[in-house]
Amino acid sequence: MKTRETFSSGLAVFFATLGSAVGLGNIWKFPYLTGQYGGGAFLLVYLACIVFVGLPVMLGEFYLGRRTRRNAVGALEKLAPGTPWKHIGTIGVAAAGLIMFFYSSVAGWVYYYLFKALRGDFAAVTMESAKAQFGALVVSPVTPVVWQAVVLAVVAGILIMGVKKGIERITKTLMPLLFVLIIACDLRALTLPGAADGVSFLFAVDFGKLSAAAVLTALGLAFFKLSLGMGCMITYGSYFTHDNDLFATGAKVALSDTLVSLLAGLAIFPTVFAFGLEPGAGPGLLFMTIPLVFSQMPFGAILLTAFFFLAAIAATTAMISLVEVPVAYLSEEKGLTRSRAVLLSVAVIFAVGILATLSVDKGSLLGGYTLMGRGFFDWFDYISSNIMLPLGGLLIALFIGRFADKADIVRELSAGSPAAARLLPVYFFILRYVTPALLLVIFLSSVGVIKL
Ligand code: PHE
Repeated sequence: MKTRETFSSGLAVFFATLGSAVGLGNIWKFPYLTGQYGGGAFLLVYLACIVFVGLPVMLGEFYLGRRTRRNAVGALEKLAPGTPWKHIGTIGVAAAGLIMFFYSSVAGWVYYYLFKALRGDFAAVTMESAKAQFGALVVSPVTPVVWQAVVLAVVAGILIMGVKKGIERITKTLMPLLFVLIIACDLRALTLPGAADGVSFLFAVDFGKLSAAAVLTALGLAFFKLSLGMGCMITYGSYFTHDNDLFATGAKVALSDTLVSLLAGLAIFPTVFAFGLEPGAGPGLLFMTIPLVFSQMPFGAILLTAFFFLAAIAATTAMISLVEVPVAYLSEEKGLTRSRAVLLSVAVIFAVGILATLSVDKGSLLGGYTLMGRGFFDWFDYISSNIMLPLGGLLIALFIGRFADKADIVRELSAGSPAAARLLPVYFFILRYVTPALLLVIFLSSVGVIKL
């Protein structure tokens, strides 16, 4: 057997895992969903989902990966040979693909906006022209496809370099930079006149605004945010150092990721309110308000570039973790070389991803092809976030909580973890009873079996 790569230190484990969690979810999804579902109350439900559902599943995935040192499918095959449990991994590989189909499309917009910011396209932008520029992008049959290809080429380049020289090196360099950039944007946003309305929108809790759909969305978002339910954390866990404290890593990653979401919200909502825009503007929120607002203030051009640069970093480090799921699977289970596995994965993602890119808007080339009101883009997003990730999470919670060998889990989760003895009983309780119950309700209601 080939020797398998691992990350080289605890710090590398942290940055790589955080690189997976921090992504377009924080900067693109979190703000517009929080906007649509009413701010503070949504945030609170989201935080509960992270603690009671996200973290327990995350630790379960770390266990599966590090214990077996295999890819998402291989890990389950090793622990439960010859059983259907390995399909947790199969669902994961499929979900990684589905997510990448639309994720690479939005990442393409981000790269393009970075390019536009550098070129000075937003120098004299108005609300109408900001809307018009984004509108022109989403209906263009060429520009977004070209940028999607650029994004995928970058991701492929990093992944071909390998786990240490590719994933580890890139995430360790770029994640700290991301924090510096986002804090710079926050300082500007929070000193705008009228910023306080944006802050209170994010933090003022009004449960009257909370609907069942909001709860479903919050859970889907928590899974999406922490890269759970689709084998990503199994795959990364399989590269963790043997003495890494998994509880501490999970907690630090969840906390830092939530911090990035809040910082992104604090960069976006104050600007939205300061300029009298709509917080519930939907997926385009980021691409219309940020250029509009930042370009109108002192040092705006630099900040705008900084903002899209940090968004591009976030998108890229998340995508490498997504594509690593099929890459690890294809190279370990199907015997492909790493380079071939990368090229094959990226080629499939590009071929199908074009459908998402060309269907994002009613006016797009394939925008007329819809099923039950959703085009390809929305279906890929809906099926992965609202169905496959919660289903994957439910199966993982059941496997870890009820089928896997408890002593084995205790051993793995205690390695290097001084607090494990106290945390494990709580962990098993939540994972056995709370997590699956919540996930089951959410899953049944998102496939329409029960009505919340
Ligand atoms: N967590 C990433 C984000 O927030 C997306 C992602 C989902 C990455 C699933 C890997 C796996 O954008």
